Amino acid sequence: MTEKDDRNMFSEEQPQPFLPPKDFKENALIKDDKPYVEAEKDSLGFWAKKAESLQWINKWEQVLDDSNPPYFKWFVNGKLNVSANCLDRHVENGLADKEAIIFEGEKGDSVILTYRELLAEVSKFCNVLQGLGVSRGDTVTIWMPMIPEAVVAMLACTRIGAVHSVVFGGFSPDALKDRILDSKSKLLVTADGANRKGKVLPMKGLAEEALEDCPSIEKVVVVERAARDYELKDGRDFRWTDLMEDADENFSPAEMDAEDPLFILYSSGTTGKPKGILHTTAGYLVGVNTTHRYVFDHRKADIYWCTADIGWITGHSYIVYGPLSNGSTVFMYEGTPDYPGRNRFWELIEKYKVTVFYTAPTAIRSFMRWGTQFPEGHDLSSLRLLGSVGEPINPEAWLWYHEHIGKNRCPIVDTWWQTETGMIMLTPLPGVTPLKPGSVTNPFPGIEADVVDDRGEPTEPGQRGFLVIKSPWPAMLRTLYEDHERYEHTYWKQYPGIYFTGDGAWKDSDGYLWIMGRVDDVLNVSGHRIGTMEVESALVDHKSVAEAAVIGKVHEIKGHSITAFVTLKEGVDGNEELLNELKSHVGKKIGAIARPEEIFFTLELPKTRSGKIMRRLLRDIAEQRDLGDVTTLMDPQVVAAIKDGYTEK
Ligand code: WTA
Repeated sequence: MTEKDDRNMFSEEQPQPFLPPKDFKENALIKDDKPYVEAEKDSLGFWAKKAESLQWINKWEQVLDDSNPPYFKWFVNGKLNVSANCLDRHVENGLADKEAIIFEGEKGDSVILTYRELLAEVSKFCNVLQGLGVSRGDTVTIWMPMIPEAVVAMLACTRIGAVHSVVFGGFSPDALKDRILDSKSKLLVTADGANRKGKVLPMKGLAEEALEDCPSIEKVVVVERAARDYELKDGRDFRWTDLMEDADENFSPAEMDAEDPLFILYSSGTTGKPKGILHTTAGYLVGVNTTHRYVFDHRKADIYWCTADIGWITGHSYIVYGPLSNGSTVFMYEGTPDYPGRNRFWELIEKYKVTVFYTAPTAIRSFMRWGTQFPEGHDLSSLRLLGSVGEPINPEAWLWYHEHIGKNRCPIVDTWWQTETGMIMLTPLPGVTPLKPGSVTNPFPGIEADVVDDRGEPTEPGQRGFLVIKSPWPAMLRTLYEDHERYEHTYWKQYPGIYFTGDGAWKDSDGYLWIMGRVDDVLNVSGHRIGTMEVESALVDHKSVAEAAVIGKVHEIKGHSITAFVTLKEGVDGNEELLNELKSHVGKKIGAIARPEEIFFTLELPKTRSGKIMRRLLRDIAEQRDLGDVTTLMDPQVVAAIKDGYTEK
């Protein structure tokens, strides 16, 4: 990590940065560097002031307790309720009839919930949960399509004091089962089916496969979404509508401690087992509330659309808790950008007059490939601000987004953060920061980030290194659910006292940050985190597989695609049929997003003398690069054999 990287260095020959447009700046919430200066002087004072914009039952006694690192506490002894902050206070403050959620289904059906209506739904579902035996501290798993009921279920958990664990709807029943078992959930909220590109994914039927081995689940609530035949198990399963029909519209929000767990969200790491990232109440809410307001320049009349799924952290923080705690109007869409046509998103922006649009580079690269005729056919003049998240955005995609979607009028906020950070950490402020396409620019006020070398020393401009966060921040994860050791090991051992992000990065001579992607064994496929070991475990779980190594190959649209090298057990024939079977097996164990794009059968895998699989080498083979130094290999012959096999394909 000592090589210089001058490709994007800012110099006389390089394009000038994009300044915030004049009229954007004039109307922006933040127009100058005041928050940076304020936070620089006194970051705890800065966060305390931000916390004051929330509604507290009891104010905190201490902003940060850092006496027992890496276990930090924020807003010590403060009492509050998240749903009261997202709903009740808006209803009380004149926003009762403001639209909280505008939803459109894949088939064009639409639902609008005002803040008053959303509060009523959430309160009703609290009574339902209570009636089904859920109480404070219990865990509820939510496995649902992108429909308003998912948001209702999440907010109801926070109101009652239950911990939610939302599992991405695209994960397989096996993955759902692992997450239910790990979190010991008592209740599952799911749907009969999900609309997926004109077809129906039979969610309840699939959930049943998971539930066979999930003894902790006592009750299941089923939302009827896709009019699909499904079975209800007597005494265990209930229809959402049946339960909600008679439920009372009032439910008093529980008084929660600042550090009470709010949710668990499983994310891929470097072992086969996903990490249960645990977020707590007050710090998380302060973090997402403040970042949503500043980064998206929150204005009362906004129609704000974040295209993420609520099963990911982006959905949690920037569909649900950030925007709703700011009293924003959230647009929510059930489907994909290419169904029924490749103009679907632009049609929705035109129809609902979306003002702020937040999506992922992978989607932008697909839009680019599909061509400008799709956005050009629609009136996108309502847009005023664009965002990007999930993976590095290449300058070309950035410029395309800026020109063809933002019409050279809308700033782009490229936001870097993680499931672990809970909130946006590196980002421009759209009314302040000059933008360089491809750079996440600077840390958010109050965030202390840097790029360091192997020894933890700050790198020089242009020098690659590791991205670290040098001091605690309010929305940070508190631990990994029931696995403190892994928490300490993964994030705090690399550089004692400093949070290790797992990302490579560099600074340019203006101090701008450029993210290079993961430096650990985690892949970023279409903005989704997938652990190489997770896919490897799924492969070796198959009866024919002896050993597997998984790597990410650079992919034009997805960022990375999954390539697997597999050695088979003695006597097994590596044919086409088995190849497809293995792909399906991974799909079944994890979900379609983890299905390898390519699988190669090899006689052996290249290993170091200590027995570690050399993934770097496999990556080079897959990308057909020069092999470099292979002398530490146990059997250099293996490489030649793999390479020959690979190029033959
Ligand atoms: C990557 C998603 C470059 C990064 C919010 C990080 C990014 C991982 C960006 C976290 C960005 C996220 N530029 N890379 N703007 N945003 N990443 O937990 O590698 O799903 O570590 O959280 O995505 O993924 P996660």
